[in-house]
Amino acid sequence: MNQHRDALARIRQWLGDIQPEAAIVLGSGLGGLAATVEQPQRIGYADIPGFPIPKVAGHGGDLVAGQLEGHPVLLQSGRFHLYEGHPPDTVALPVRVFAELGIRNLVLTNAAGGVRPGFRPPALMLIADHINLMWRNPITGPVIEGETRFPDMSEPYDRGLRELAREVALGESLLLEEGVYAALLGPSYETPAEIRMLQRLGADAVGMSTVPEVIVARARGMRVLGVSTITNLAAGISPTALSHEEVLAAGRQVARDLERLVRGIVRRLY
Ligand code: HPA
Repeated sequence: MNQHRDALARIRQWLGDIQPEAAIVLGSGLGGLAATVEQPQRIGYADIPGFPIPKVAGHGGDLVAGQLEGHPVLLQSGRFHLYEGHPPDTVALPVRVFAELGIRNLVLTNAAGGVRPGFRPPALMLIADHINLMWRNPITGPVIEGETRFPDMSEPYDRGLRELAREVALGESLLLEEGVYAALLGPSYETPAEIRMLQRLGADAVGMSTVPEVIVARARGMRVLGVSTITNLAAGISPTALSHEEVLAAGRQVARDLERLVRGIVRRLY
């Protein structure tokens, strides 16, 4: 039940007296930010109890502690997905550790397909809200110490952080779309009929991650910011077939914009 305890002990030992102020989870093709932190210090997932080794191409497998814009941060390069067959507990494990480390701000990034017809990928989208269509929830089962049974989800993505992201985008002349992220289990991409359904449900983007992490973060009272990179138009809107390679390539194209956005946010967080 408290499987994060061993991971926490190991990560505490590794961090020593470093106290990260924010944790940043890097999505598919977005690992580049981890290479730009100052005074980096890395630990591979193989050295952390309970952390599986990612097998998906384009997903790294380490935590990087370092300075971003003069602030101590912890980067998660490589996340765990339900579609890999991991139980929700494992997907949520890093967030539980971050919360126990006293980190109050969580920045989640991901790659997503554009469901809103007007999107021009590659683009950045601030996540305003989400729809959980994974039919899984990481906080089912016994209540874990430090978490609430019925977390309020009326504002899953922090209003203040969203405002800050918009201000940074304006100041940096970055186009920042804003919309609702629908999370599906995957790993197959959606059919055109499913995308039409998502449009009717009010989704602007679709992906296969993030929502389990947001739920655990909210159960622990963390402030969450979510940013999707719209790497492709979703099935049926896109004139071509979808591929993971296309998603990774588009992610790399907007990685610099995402880096500017995240750096600007971290600079002004405190
Ligand atoms: N669908 C689901 N997940 C995705 C997509 C998509 O079109 N693009 C990137 N991640």
